[in-house]
Amino acid sequence: MKIVTLGSSGFLSGEVVRSALRRGHQVVAVSRGHGAPAPTGAVEVHADRDDPDALARVLSGSAPDAVVDVCGYTVAGAQAAAGILGDVGAYAYVSSVSAYRAWPPGPVRGEGDPLFTPQDDLTSYGPMKAESERVLGRVLGDRLWTVRPGLIIGPGDTTRRMTSWLHRIATREQVAVPGTLDQPMAFVDVRDLAELLVTGVEQGWSGPVTATGPVGMTTFGGLLEACREAVASTGGTPGTLVPIAEDRLLAAGVEPWRDLPFWLPHEVARTAWDVDTTLARSLGLAVRPVQDSVTDTWRWVQQRGLDHPELDPRLEPSALSAAAR
Ligand SMILES: NC(=O)c1ccc[n+]([C@@H]2O[C@H](COP(=O)([O-])OP(=O)(O)OC[C@H]3O[C@@H](n4cnc5c(N)ncnc54)[C@H](OP(=O)(O)O)[C@@H]3O)[C@@H](O)[C@H]2O)c1
Repeated sequence: MKIVTLGSSGFLSGEVVRSALRRGHQVVAVSRGHGAPAPTGAVEVHADRDDPDALARVLSGSAPDAVVDVCGYTVAGAQAAAGILGDVGAYAYVSSVSAYRAWPPGPVRGEGDPLFTPQDDLTSYGPMKAESERVLGRVLGDRLWTVRPGLIIGPGDTTRRMTSWLHRIATREQVAVPGTLDQPMAFVDVRDLAELLVTGVEQGWSGPVTATGPVGMTTFGGLLEACREAVASTGGTPGTLVPIAEDRLLAAGVEPWRDLPFWLPHEVARTAWDVDTTLARSLGLAVRPVQDSVTDTWRWVQQRGLDHPELDPRLEPSALSAAAR
C-alpha cells in the first residue's frame, strides 16, 4: 500500500513509519522538517499539516491508499487533512483517551462513552481531539478509524516522564516516590501501538478504539521496580525507593503528574487508570511486558544521551519528610 503518515520521525510517528516500511508499504512521511529526518526508506515531504495549501502542494499526485494521522493537535489540522485526503480508502486518526468527557477522573467503560462536545473549548486538548474526530468522520464516514491511546511509553519518548524516573533511580541514592505503590496503572508501548495502527489501515478498520494496556497490567510500584531492574541490568546501582504518603506530598505542594510523573492523587487514580480495553484486546493490541518497555527505554536514554534537569531540591526525600513535620 501507499501510506501517507502525518508526522514522520517523532515518538509515535517514527515507529509508525518504521512499522509500515517493515511490512513492505511505500511511505510518504509529512512533517514540517523541524526534527530528525524520517526513517530511511520513507519519502520525506515538508509541510505544516494545518495549512491546506501546503499539504496539497506536497501531496499533489501522491494518491495514497491510506493515511495514518499521528500529529493532530488542532481542529484546523483535521479540517485541512479532511479536505486534502478525504477520499482515501482508509484513514487512521490518533486521538486520545482525553477525548472522553469524563476522563479524567474516568473511568472509561467503553468506546461509546460520551466525548467532549462542540460547545467545549476546542483549543484545549481533549475537546480538540473529540472535535477533530467529528470533522474527519463527517468526510470519511466508515473509512475513518479513530484510535484513542492512553499513556504511551517506550524508546523515543522525549516527554521526560518515564525517563525522569529512570534518571532519578540511576543517579540518586534515595528517590522519593508516592506512597500509593499498589496503585494499578496501564499504558501501551509505542511499538505495539504503531503495529496496531498499520494493521488497522491495512484491514480498513473503522469506528473508535481505546488503545492502552489492560486494567491493572502493573502497579506504580511495579513500574518503579522495573526502572530499578533496568538500571541494574546496565551495571548501574539503582536508588532506594522512599515512599512518601500522599497527604504529605500534597501538603508540601508537590504537583501531581508534573513533579512526580504518573502520580495522580488516589481519588483520581482509582478511576483514571480504569479504562476498558476489551475492543483493543480483540483487535490484537499487544501487551508487552513492562520490563521490556522500561529496559528498552533506559537503553535508548543512554544511547541518545537524553538530558534531564537537576532534581528540584523540594523533591528530595529528606526535604519532603522535613516539610511534613
Ligand atoms: N504521548 C502520549 O502519551 C499520548 C497519549 C495519548 C495520545 N497521544 C497522541 O499520540 C500522537 C503522537 O504523539 P507523539 O508525541 O508521539 O507525536 P510524534 O509522533 O512525536 O509527532 C510529532 C511528529 O509530527 C510532526 N508534526 C508535528 N506538528 C506538525 C504539523 N503541524 N505539521 C506537520 N508535521 C507535524 C513532527 O515533525 P515536525 O516538528 O518536524 O513538524 C514529528 O514528526 C499525538 O496525536 C498525541 O496527541 C499521545
